[in-house]
Amino acid sequence: MRTASGGRAGVRADFPIFARDFGGRPLIYLDSAASSQKPEVVIEALAEHLRNHNANVHRGVYALAQEADAAYDGARARVAAFVGGEPETTIFTKNATEAINLVAYAWGRENLNPTGAVLITQMEHHANIVPWQQLCRERGAELRYLEVDERGELSLEQLDAELARGDVRMLAFAHVSNVLGTINPVAEMTRRARAAGALTLVDGAQAVPHMPVDVAALGADFYAWTGHKALGPTGIGVLHGRREVLEEMQPFLTGGDMIASVDFQSATWNELPYKFEAGTPPIAEAVGLGAAVEYLERLGMERVRAHERSLTAYMLERLAQVPGLRVVGPPEAERRGGLASFTIEGMHPHDIAELADRGGVCIRAGHHCAQPLMRCLGVGATARASVGVYNDAADIDALLDALLAGREVFGLSGA
Ligand SMILES: Cc1ncc(COP(=O)(O)O)c(C=O)c1O
Repeated sequence: MRTASGGRAGVRADFPIFARDFGGRPLIYLDSAASSQKPEVVIEALAEHLRNHNANVHRGVYALAQEADAAYDGARARVAAFVGGEPETTIFTKNATEAINLVAYAWGRENLNPTGAVLITQMEHHANIVPWQQLCRERGAELRYLEVDERGELSLEQLDAELARGDVRMLAFAHVSNVLGTINPVAEMTRRARAAGALTLVDGAQAVPHMPVDVAALGADFYAWTGHKALGPTGIGVLHGRREVLEEMQPFLTGGDMIASVDFQSATWNELPYKFEAGTPPIAEAVGLGAAVEYLERLGMERVRAHERSLTAYMLERLAQVPGLRVVGPPEAERRGGLASFTIEGMHPHDIAELADRGGVCIRAGHHCAQPLMRCLGVGATARASVGVYNDAADIDALLDALLAGREVFGLSGA
């Protein structure tokens, strides 16, 4: 069987974009944390659905509509099984951001008041900060933060101390930080939160595409992720919820499909998961995501993680050879996902990314939608290189060549 360490001749050949030529150079893509590339099987699944099975779902009696139903529901079952979830508690959204907003609105408005607090962390993406800010402002509740230490990690002692205050209603945190790479101890954190009577939401946007995830074993009340980072299309995200909590919650968006019945002045709600899927859902996108998780399953998520961990170790080792370069986050590859954010003394991160691009290497620069974290790190921005199943050591070597050449352009000396 081919593995994710199959290199250029292996997995990479499954992704048509790598056949492109950028002015005589191949594509060196080290920006999977922003969005992954798509394998042919996903592109084909989307096209095949639209070509041969396209109709709206849940409304038609004719054969074609039933094919669309089967494709949509089949995709949900596949996506749920991929992470150990159940179809009825697996809700399709537009992206991870919408999944988190769904919880902040639908759970938060009913359950948060001025006596309660929401606890998040300093390493969150804006998608897991701003919805809680809005909710807390609206409900008069407090928003507090767990701190990130100098290793880029959280403290379980601080978590305990916060939970001991007795007012935390929701603990929301990233499984893997999109800047630091830190892998948080999810099962331990959800266990402590539950013991203190708080619900938990885990933002798995940077975890699900890169490592085995079992949402049942992790024990969170909500687990959110996004399709486009997991080899799937844009326009689809996933929220897994604990059944009892979802049953109790009011809907987020309202309208067609999410109702059981509608009268002139009132309505009743459809069963799970449809209660949370108002309007025509992302049907073809779900089919594409189903194909993406099938592809990842064929590679094997243990192998994907092993491949990306060894590439990350190699990346950290090579980056350490660049004078003036500082990587943020845990120094050990096994404690982080497949990314490294860094600064280089004397160069702005945007210049680093632009000079990398001259060497044909795609990396990202900026605040990575984590401005509060940038403040904690004492920087305005970082450059970030992130790997996926299709990368290999030659990509990291190309990044290094580009960074060293970039330093020369800036007239920076050797050591
Ligand atoms: C940790 C994390 N959470 C949430 C998101 C938001 O994902 P989306 O834009 O697909 O909603 C991202 C995307 O960068 C992310 O890295």
